[in-house]
Amino acid sequence: MTNEMHEEASNKSNNREFEDVVNSYMSRRTLLVGSLAGAALTFVGARIASASASNGSSAKSAPQVIAAKSPKIGFTSIPLQGSPMPTIAPEYSYSVLIPWREKLDGSGTSFDYAGFTAAQQEQSIGIGHDGMWYFGDDKKGLLCINHEYGTTSHIMGKSVPTSAADVALSQTAHGISVVAIENVGGKWKVAKSKKNRRVHVNTLATISGPVAKSALIQNAAGNPIQGTMNNCANGKTPWGTYLTCEENFNGYFGAKSSTWKPNAEQARYGIAAAGFGYDWHKFDARFDLSDANYANEANRFGYVVEIDPNKPGSQPIKRSALGRVKHEGAEVVEGKDGRIVVYMGDDERFDYVYKFVSKSNWKSMIKAGVSPLDEGTLYVAKFNDDGTGAWLELSPSNPALSTWTLDKILVYTRMAADVVGATKMDRPEWIAGSKTGEMYVTLTNNTQRGTVGKAAVDKANPTKVNTYGHIVRWKDASQYLGMTFTWDIFLLANQTFDEGGQMFGSPDGIWVDSDDRVFVQTDGEQPGKFNDQMLVANSKTKEIRRLFTGVAGSEVTGVTVTPDRKTMFVNLQHPGDGSPAISNFPAPYTGASGPVPRDCTIVITRKNGGIIGS
Ligand code: FEO
Ligand code: CA
Ligand code: CA
Ligand code: CA
Repeated sequence: MTNEMHEEASNKSNNREFEDVVNSYMSRRTLLVGSLAGAALTFVGARIASASASNGSSAKSAPQVIAAKSPKIGFTSIPLQGSPMPTIAPEYSYSVLIPWREKLDGSGTSFDYAGFTAAQQEQSIGIGHDGMWYFGDDKKGLLCINHEYGTTSHIMGKSVPTSAADVALSQTAHGISVVAIENVGGKWKVAKSKKNRRVHVNTLATISGPVAKSALIQNAAGNPIQGTMNNCANGKTPWGTYLTCEENFNGYFGAKSSTWKPNAEQARYGIAAAGFGYDWHKFDARFDLSDANYANEANRFGYVVEIDPNKPGSQPIKRSALGRVKHEGAEVVEGKDGRIVVYMGDDERFDYVYKFVSKSNWKSMIKAGVSPLDEGTLYVAKFNDDGTGAWLELSPSNPALSTWTLDKILVYTRMAADVVGATKMDRPEWIAGSKTGEMYVTLTNNTQRGTVGKAAVDKANPTKVNTYGHIVRWKDASQYLGMTFTWDIFLLANQTFDEGGQMFGSPDGIWVDSDDRVFVQTDGEQPGKFNDQMLVANSKTKEIRRLFTGVAGSEVTGVTVTPDRKTMFVNLQHPGDGSPAISNFPAPYTGASGPVPRDCTIVITRKNGGIIGS
């Protein structure tokens, strides 16, 4: 979703913000690595000023997060561009897969834009392609893909829905797709499969874990749990399921009554009478905040949702033990005793980074019939200025939360995190882990950092009015299970530049391959107002090259590969911002009279058949 859709910061608590932490930390680190800056950090003949080479001075040496390897990145970096078509490094090529409205029956055909209905949308690929994961071998498998966002204008060519049928179409375009794909003669296509399905806003679902029986999710209407929406980033489990994360759910609710006002809990989640303009509440009472029969409906969204791609009849399960926030990804790793750890960002200005640790070994839990995502402990991160950090427990066992019930903590997670003193960050988006345990979080931007009445800069969020964002990296003690960590700044986008100016902004999607290449995707303001892009960074030297640029008006998001890493799938979301005047992609550009652009997946291969990023 575009940056502009994010509302005013809703965190009014007094916790120190991440930016304040970063600035003090940065100044301490400068002497330490400043001498290396010009030599090691190169970008196609130009310099990159890394975070570690920035301002300030340092008295004692800080803990450092050291990347394990220095991976080879051998392709030719391409320039920023502003075209209605994508560009890719000359050693690479791309093709288009599963554009919005392509049928799930494997016929390779699509429903028409004109007269498109909810019933047709339910049988075809949704809009707003975002996070995804590929479960399969090098030639065929299942792609699980999130459909985060689509404006009414993009979907049906009008500014607001004017009927229940319009709202049903909008609702059905959101959610996820499970789609079988196969490589036939070098070309990836949709395969016919009983597993192909859509999950959308009206699909029957379950809420499991500590909130399952909570009064906070009951409605007077007695309506069942239904649907998932604004599915942003993602995760996958070691037991083969897909995790889809509900982000800006607040914007789909609105109030018909002009006297309705949000309570403190609703305000903390950005829930407001106007919503984002989807206007579902005008035709579907479930989304009307002023309808007393559905007073708690919004408490049923904001979760990490588990979907089994291999069981097409199974319901999506909202895993409440992971908390309720505007979830970005859910990066699952395994601790040395077999407990799983899930790292998660909450994308709002001045919101937090979380981790969940399962109660015991995941294999034993599954054997005992318990989901490892239903029993465990949730924590929130505190980044200290000295390059250390701590995980603060979010449960009634924490004295600061002794008067809270567990279900209240997990439904109003942001407020519990305010109480324990978590570090306010610059919009935590995706989190990705390297094989050796370094975790990377993209902090996309925060134009309110350090402004009047807002949290000041700190070492972990060091940029006042942080227009372009940054990436923080940490490593937990005891192979993910420790309650402390060390951290550093991997990159400051606003200090990363080439000859033409600043090189990237608004980092969002991120993935680290098993050779420690860091793939960074952007969503939002780019230097020079150029298109969003995908970069590949060396985790050790911080050298960056630009592999791919999207089309005007779109973001580049979602990243997954085949097991041999020779095919990569990424997404173009809202090409042309939905306007054919800006882009007709995937059709060649012919202007405003051309076809409405279609969100789609981009298949990337190296012309010599090599590993992507090499
Ligand atoms: Fe869905 Fe925060 O991007
Ligand atoms: Ca997005
Ligand atoms: Ca995003
Ligand atoms: Ca974003």
